[in-house]
Amino acid sequence: MNILFAGDIVGKPGRRAVEALCAGIKERYAIDLFIANGENAAGGSGITTDMVWQLHSFGVDVITMGDHVWRQKDILNVIDEDRRLIRPANFPPGTPGAGSTVVEVPGRGKVGVINVLGRVLMFRLPLDCPFRAAEKELEEIRKETKIIIVDVHAEATSEKLAFGRFLDGRVSAVVGTHTHVLTADEVVLEGGTAYITDCGMTGPFRSILGRQIEPVLKSFVTRMPAYFKVAKEDVRLTGVVLEIDEETGKACRIERIQVRLEDEREAIAEGQEQ
Ligand SMILES: [Fe+2]
Ligand SMILES: [Fe+2]
Repeated sequence: MNILFAGDIVGKPGRRAVEALCAGIKERYAIDLFIANGENAAGGSGITTDMVWQLHSFGVDVITMGDHVWRQKDILNVIDEDRRLIRPANFPPGTPGAGSTVVEVPGRGKVGVINVLGRVLMFRLPLDCPFRAAEKELEEIRKETKIIIVDVHAEATSEKLAFGRFLDGRVSAVVGTHTHVLTADEVVLEGGTAYITDCGMTGPFRSILGRQIEPVLKSFVTRMPAYFKVAKEDVRLTGVVLEIDEETGKACRIERIQVRLEDEREAIAEGQEQ
């Protein structure tokens, strides 16, 4: 089974990249399931109900989230309805939505997806332990399938690497998100778990992590508050393609991909909405 995992979708340019590039990438890599992190889909922060359905209609099967999950309150209208949208599992008990899901890939079997949020350099108020939260979700999912993909949404490379080692041999892949920068450390670990520290960003690359360069730069240099608008140029879809053995649930291969939206002017021209 081939699974595409795309890094954080940023604003309208990111959504446009998914729309324009999805079919071609799916065909080229014979993709059976498409997972993407959607925490920055709405103007760079959060996601709305409309955008959830829009991304599904573009071909994203499962949407994972991160620290920006509650930035758009509208997500509360969809997160309990849509089983293909998940939020980090290590929020307190009673939080809306679910931290994992199991989806059926026609003709191929079931795939479990887990989302967790790191605690190092992420929040002033730390969440529950992501390691134990992942283990708890894992126990349930393993009753249904051996194919399990984990999105570890975290800042610190050490925490993500630890996560990969912690789950090696117990899940098919541990894919890092959140930093928006694709790392070059993809590997299939000894136990058969594919791992990458960060699978990058789906959005505008002439930017600082997807936001317009000038205000971010000004904020760093002057330490004055600034509004960070989503950038528009050099739009790319970045992620990894995972090849998983359906019988064992182990990974055979992990490959980094980055595809540029050729007709980027079209993405730039589409109005103010981000
Ligand atoms: Fe994030
Ligand atoms: Fe992000």
